[in-house]
Amino acid sequence: MVVLVMAGALHAEPVCQPCHARQSRQHAASPHAAALYPAALHPLRAQFGKAADLRRGSGYLFRFDFTGPGGKVRATDSKDVMELPLEWAFGSGQQAVTFVTRVNQEFYVEHYGSYYPALQGFGPTPGQDVLQPDSLARAAGVLYPLRDPQSGIDGCFGCHSTGPVQFAFDGQVQLGQPGVQCLACHSDTTAHVAQPDQHRPGNPGKLSAAGLNDFCGRCHRPPASAGTKPDWNYAWNVRHQPLYLAESRCFVKSKGKLSCLTCHDPHQAVAKQPASSYNQKCEGCHPQTKPVCRQQSPANCIDCHMPAVTPQSPLRFSNHWIGVYGDGAKLKPLR
Ligand code: HEC
Ligand code: HEC
Ligand code: HEC
Ligand code: HEC
Ligand code: HEC
Ligand code: HEC
Ligand code: HEC
Repeated sequence: MVVLVMAGALHAEPVCQPCHARQSRQHAASPHAAALYPAALHPLRAQFGKAADLRRGSGYLFRFDFTGPGGKVRATDSKDVMELPLEWAFGSGQQAVTFVTRVNQEFYVEHYGSYYPALQGFGPTPGQDVLQPDSLARAAGVLYPLRDPQSGIDGCFGCHSTGPVQFAFDGQVQLGQPGVQCLACHSDTTAHVAQPDQHRPGNPGKLSAAGLNDFCGRCHRPPASAGTKPDWNYAWNVRHQPLYLAESRCFVKSKGKLSCLTCHDPHQAVAKQPASSYNQKCEGCHPQTKPVCRQQSPANCIDCHMPAVTPQSPLRFSNHWIGVYGDGAKLKPLR
């Protein structure tokens, strides 16, 4: 495996750190910073190596091995054995880690096995369990061409790294920085670093609520464009927060006062905020201390009005279409 970035340069923006210590410290511990690693350097590496083998149907078996300098997976069926290195690890491990490896100058493979910290083990990569492989090579994962607007591996690298995504002649990817780092959200920083008072960098905090839906939606997927009709029954769509928030009456009727930044500090991990902390955000606009709906129950507002959806266990996304939900119907509010 070729590691294209120096370990010391990973997940840090040493240039900004001296003047913006708080943002740098918070961001360094956030899933954004850790959205992509060379697999051998992933913080959960030690856990990958301890996990049990993964079976696919009755025919295929995968053994993940991190005893050497890099990770590898050994795939077997009744006839054949195949060994592939595990090159890149997508996902901080907040929810899942998916492995991707260059196959040749034209293709990458997204491996069948992803690591799920909640299971302390491997399970099928999202979207792959429904496929019916007819050979060991196909069972090992899904092939992606280098570049394609719909299904290129450049898309994966683009949303999980910072700076341009390029490929060498042999297909090796060349990234600015792995992970979503400062410069993914703050532009024009060179002049700012030289003369902070004279030149201000791009700050998405100055965008409107709708502008933030589009800005964050570059990676988190934007609101539906006019004329298109998303499939609200497709549970995987719930992971696209701007798409859902834009449908909510809270968003539509609050005339630009509700944005991603109302509830999230973009530098900080969500896990740092207890579920009860959102009550205060809701109550900023719904000031009754005891809303009619809550009198009977000590639960948090988000438990009922932003329910968690599980498209595939154990993944979990909060429905950002804030609304009134029927019993057990978490994909779309009643009204
Ligand atoms: C030499 C010190 C220094 C360095 C280095 C520096 N900044 Fe700043 N930055 C400042 C100062 C001073 C301000 C203004 C702070 C204020 O208004 O409270 C600022 C403001 C900002 C703002 C807010 C801009 C606005 O208009 O709201 C952002 C965003 C920012 N910096 C990002 C960065 C990033 C990203 C880096 C690294 C690439 C960086 N800064 C490097 C000193 C620095
Ligand atoms: C360059 C792509 C990109 C942009 C731009 C981006 N994000 Fe993200 N974001 C990601 C990725 C990738 C993850 C998943 C990180 C992981 O767990 O691997 C993520 C995760 C998150 C999380 C979950 C963090 C957690 O603690 O679990 C939040 C919240 C979030 N982003 C909010 C935002 C907001 C708000 C904006 C806009 C200000 C934004 N993001 C812009 C790519 C992006
Ligand atoms: C359009 C931008 C975009 C593309 C393309 C993209 N991702 Fe992501 N990815 C995200 C964002 C945003 C998140 C955070 C989702 C969330 O937690 O809401 C994420 C999360 C993840 C996670 C963490 C687990 C999870 O599902 O939240 C993994 C693993 C992952 N992506 C792998 C990949 C792989 C592999 C590819 C290519 C096959 C890919 N991603 C393509 C934006 C993207
Ligand atoms: C996912 C996008 C994203 C990333 C990555 C990101 N920022 Fe920000 N940053 C924002 C947004 C959005 C705001 C506006 C926050 C607000 O107004 O509430 C902001 C605001 C700031 C500010 C102004 C003061 C403040 O906190 O509001 C500074 C300084 C800053 N960022 C520095 C950094 C540095 C340094 C890094 C890297 C260590 C970084 N940011 C990474 C999105 C991001
Ligand atoms: C920036 C202000 C704002 C914030 C923050 C906000 N809302 Fe709202 N919300 C509104 C407005 C405005 C309406 C529409 C009221 C109307 O139609 O009269 C609304 C409507 C609603 C409705 C009725 C939805 C429907 O479709 O009938 C519910 C339920 C609700 N909000 C719950 C919440 C919860 C829970 C939170 C916190 C997670 C929250 N809101 C945060 C402004 C906000
Ligand atoms: C009204 C408050 C609110 C707003 C506005 C909001 N979020 Fe969230 N977000 C939450 C809550 C609550 C969670 C779940 C927190 C938890 O599980 O502890 C969450 C979780 C997330 C996650 C983690 C994955 C998931 O879906 O659970 C991402 C990514 C995210 N938000 C992105 C965004 C983006 C991007 C925006 C703007 C389009 C946004 N959020 C606007 C409240 C909000
Ligand atoms: C146990 C579930 C539950 C919890 C917790 C909960 N709600 Fe509700 N909420 C509901 C239901 C159900 C309705 C619809 C009530 C109706 O139509 O009579 C509702 C209605 C609402 C409405 C719309 C009222 C209207 O007149 O249309 C708002 C606003 C609202 N809730 C805000 C909140 C806020 C803010 C919190 C947290 C402080 C909260 N809710 C906690 C279940 C809940």
